[in-house]
Amino acid sequence: MDAKTKRSLVLLLCLCLHLNTHVCLAADTIAANQSLSGDQTIVSAGKVFELGFFKPGNSSNYYIGMWYSKQLVSLETIVWVANRETPVSDRFSSVLRISYGNLVLFNVSNTPIWSTNLASTTTSGSAQAVLLDSGNLVLRTAGSNANTSEPLWQSFDHPAHTWLPGARIGFNTVTSQTLILTSWKSSEDPAPGLFTLGLFTLELDPNGSNAYLILWNRSTPYWNSGSWDAKSRIFSGSPEMRLNYIHNFSYVTNKNESYFTYSLYDPKKIFRFVMHSSGQIQQLSWLEISSQWNLFWNQPRKQCGVYNLCGAFGSCNEVSTVSCNCLTGFEPKLQRDWNLQAYSGGCKRKTPLHCDNATSADGKQDQFLKMAMLLPENMQSVSVYTFPECESICLNSCSCTAYAYDSSGCSIWIGDLFNLQQFTSSDSQGTTLYLRLAASEFKSPKSNKGLIIGVVAGSAAGIAILLGLIVVVILRQRKRVTGTGKAVEGSLVAFGYRDLQDATKNFSEKLGGGGFGSVFKGTLPDSSVIAVKKLESVSQGEKQFRTEVSIIGTIQHVNLVRLRGFCSEAKKRMLVYDYMPNGSLDSHLFHDMRPNVLDWKTRYQIALGTARGLAYLHEKCRDCIIHCDIKPENILLDTELGPKVADFGLAKLVRREFSRVLTTMRGTRGYLAPEWISGVAITVKADVYSYGMMLFEFVSGRRNSEQSEDGKVRFFPSWAASQISTAEADVLSLLDPRLDGNADVQELTRTCRVACWCVQDDEAHRPSMGQVVQILEGISDVNLPPIPRSLQVLGDDQEHIIFFTESSSIQSSHQRSNNTSTASSQTKSTTSSTISKRSEEEHHINT
Ligand SMILES: *[C@@H]1O[C@H](CO)[C@@H](O)[C@H](O)[C@H]1NC(C)=O
Ligand SMILES: *[C@@H]1O[C@H](CO)[C@@H](O)[C@H](O)[C@H]1NC(C)=O
Ligand SMILES: *[C@@H]1O[C@H](CO)[C@@H](O)[C@H](O)[C@H]1NC(C)=O
Ligand SMILES: *[C@@H]1O[C@H](CO)[C@@H](O)[C@H](O)[C@H]1NC(C)=O
Ligand SMILES: *[C@@H]1O[C@H](CO)[C@@H](O)[C@H](O)[C@H]1NC(C)=O
Ligand SMILES: *[C@@H]1O[C@H](CO)[C@@H](O)[C@H](O)[C@H]1NC(C)=O
Ligand SMILES: *[C@@H]1O[C@H](CO)[C@@H](O)[C@H](O)[C@H]1NC(C)=O
Ligand SMILES: *[C@@H]1O[C@H](CO)[C@@H](O)[C@H](O)[C@H]1NC(C)=O
Ligand SMILES: *[C@@H]1O[C@H](CO)[C@@H](O)[C@H](O)[C@H]1NC(C)=O
Repeated sequence: MDAKTKRSLVLLLCLCLHLNTHVCLAADTIAANQSLSGDQTIVSAGKVFELGFFKPGNSSNYYIGMWYSKQLVSLETIVWVANRETPVSDRFSSVLRISYGNLVLFNVSNTPIWSTNLASTTTSGSAQAVLLDSGNLVLRTAGSNANTSEPLWQSFDHPAHTWLPGARIGFNTVTSQTLILTSWKSSEDPAPGLFTLGLFTLELDPNGSNAYLILWNRSTPYWNSGSWDAKSRIFSGSPEMRLNYIHNFSYVTNKNESYFTYSLYDPKKIFRFVMHSSGQIQQLSWLEISSQWNLFWNQPRKQCGVYNLCGAFGSCNEVSTVSCNCLTGFEPKLQRDWNLQAYSGGCKRKTPLHCDNATSADGKQDQFLKMAMLLPENMQSVSVYTFPECESICLNSCSCTAYAYDSSGCSIWIGDLFNLQQFTSSDSQGTTLYLRLAASEFKSPKSNKGLIIGVVAGSAAGIAILLGLIVVVILRQRKRVTGTGKAVEGSLVAFGYRDLQDATKNFSEKLGGGGFGSVFKGTLPDSSVIAVKKLESVSQGEKQFRTEVSIIGTIQHVNLVRLRGFCSEAKKRMLVYDYMPNGSLDSHLFHDMRPNVLDWKTRYQIALGTARGLAYLHEKCRDCIIHCDIKPENILLDTELGPKVADFGLAKLVRREFSRVLTTMRGTRGYLAPEWISGVAITVKADVYSYGMMLFEFVSGRRNSEQSEDGKVRFFPSWAASQISTAEADVLSLLDPRLDGNADVQELTRTCRVACWCVQDDEAHRPSMGQVVQILEGISDVNLPPIPRSLQVLGDDQEHIIFFTESSSIQSSHQRSNNTSTASSQTKSTTSSTISKRSEEEHHINT
């Protein structure tokens, strides 16, 4: 049979499939006398999943794969692949069919290239493959009861890179089968990549307290979930994995097998875990509205921690959004993958080394480029004791790609360089790496960048000095151009004290004050309006201050106030920001005098924008930044009433002054998380707490610390928490009376629930700001979290609650085992002692 007749046969088959599917393939089954080829697919009974041949991206290979049916998920999303390592080139001449009791894929030469590989104990006539709505492809004896009989084989026992609800991660001790997720090599190559997610357990413990989920690069674990906590059904190290109470994880262990599995509380939602080719475990949810997958959660957050993330000669950068860059003189090996953010293919030289091609036209020796890098792994130490010797050792060995010379001596690298990390001025471990490049790469150093990196021609150090001089000259000239005592530092302007004194008319128009210093309005000569913050109690030296400030300067987000520059002269330290014409949120939210009280829609947008800004600070910056002082005063509003978080990064500048900050924040202590007072390490969750407290104020339109006008409600968060937890909650009754009930009830409910979740006593129980954003965006729902213990104390003593939080924490910091469940009875008695304990408490924080 030639190809042509085969084609027409297939065509006929397809036609017949079209006309009467029952004659050809039963919708969800490949029966013993049927086969699947070309564009044919089987679809699960509920039309959830579809199975057939597919081609990933622009690849020319075909695979048997399973994807969500197009009605459900319009983007082709592969969740399982059969022949990961053995693709076929032509889907029309390849056939998937039952053969001697196995499901087998035959290529064009009728050679089996993938099989379910069961010992042929069943005859071909009796087995059939059925695609289930769960995404499980099962092979079972035809006519057996699907509800009771064990499948002969199932795809859930052979996971690819996706973990679907109901599937298992673990191992079977009877069959010695391990159920692990294995990443694809790249988005166009489903072959097993470097990274796996599997179960790790120390011993068979029925409670699973020694069980973890763990990420490997085959041999090296680089992340784990923390141990399983059977009681609260979470992973102790990643409570957020449970994500808004979406997943119901369970751990099963017995003599035969141990595994984790999960179900969704709402089975209609579409969620999946994916072991991504970048080495991150990701959790994605399908967004019907925008027809795209939304990245819900991922680990490890610090992408640069993933082994070989950027491939050979790629360098990892956590500051910019693109996390991998090729080193100077290199370009992506697979630009396509690189565009798809699958970087592990690495980079290749733009110009071959002289060493590798002695006939090279210009015939010049290779040279070394000096770069600031965290030194890559797998270095070799060489016992030479001078810098030139070290360089010449490397130059004379063709396989040497780089060297470094520092106090610990000479190190060289042979072959490809992996795990390079760009280093910023704040990294102390950074060292200088000399990278071997072809001489032609040095011909035209591109403008400033090349100069700043510094070009050292190995054979002519004199040139470097010359270039150095040029840099100095250029910088000098720039300084002159910008004029009046300003210098450029990154994108920031270094202002002279005089300039700011002039701009602010000698600091005459005070905009406000805070824990870190007073703010003044000013106008620059180019008539742009600025806000100048005079920092008090900065204990750092000039260099450290500049470093810290330049880090703050790199943090830019639409919901963060932009730092324009700074001033550092003698002991004076100032920061210069964009001026926000609408002032801070508190004046809009709390003051009755204003004719236009903020409407609900605006409040919600401000809440959401603030959450986005904080999520950026917490999760997207290189060093996560804890704001430490979230309150309406620090949310500024632009002309459009868009929120911008102010004063971030300052807590670090005044690092040693926390007790002082606390003192000045005393008036707004209602925003402080309990752990502030207990003296334990502060995490980003402290900001989440403050944010939650502020959310209650968005709802009520008054400070939490104020009583309601009629005196009925004394502490709004407690009242709100108890109201939303009642069965027939009337959320509108919580709303600021000035809004006359004009609010989206769904948004209002969401806001109250998130607020309640944010102020959980235990920081581990609070959401991340990223999760808050997703809930407020309506991407995910939040079930009602338990009412925090500190809010549960109801009755007439509400005014004491803010203090109660503090005093209970003081207790726990002094006698950590003390149980605070007798809270309500202690409230009164501990309040009186709060004041006297304050000095002690501050001492505690200071140490
Ligand atoms: C396949 O076998 C089933 C019963 O085993 C039969 O009903 C059906 O007609 C057969 N289909 C084809 C195309 O032979
Ligand atoms: C079919 O697979 C076999 C085994 O892998 C291989 O030797 C053969 O070349 C393949 N045929 C085609 C046409 O690719
Ligand atoms: C299997 O269970 C489902 C639902 O429980 C039921 O509708 C179906 O009839 C059962 N099938 C068999 C073959 O018993
Ligand atoms: C498992 O949990 C039960 C009940 O919580 C407890 O009695 C038992 O000691 C635990 N077993 C182990 C090995 O921790
Ligand atoms: C895993 O990482 C280690 C170092 O972290 C490395 O030595 C090893 O080669 C890596 N394994 C693979 C398969 O890449
Ligand atoms: C969560 O899963 C476990 C085990 O499958 C089950 O017993 C429990 O009922 C589930 N919980 C909910 C709320 O669905
Ligand atoms: C373990 O497997 C054996 C045989 O495979 C089976 O009889 C037994 O019931 C299994 N035990 C458990 C706890 O599942
Ligand atoms: C696939 O090829 C098309 C056209 O050649 C191109 O536009 C597209 O960007 C390619 N996709 C990827 C992922 O490279
Ligand atoms: C060596 O250099 C010559 C001239 O530049 C070039 O034509 C040739 O392709 C190079 N060979 C290799 C292996 O790079």
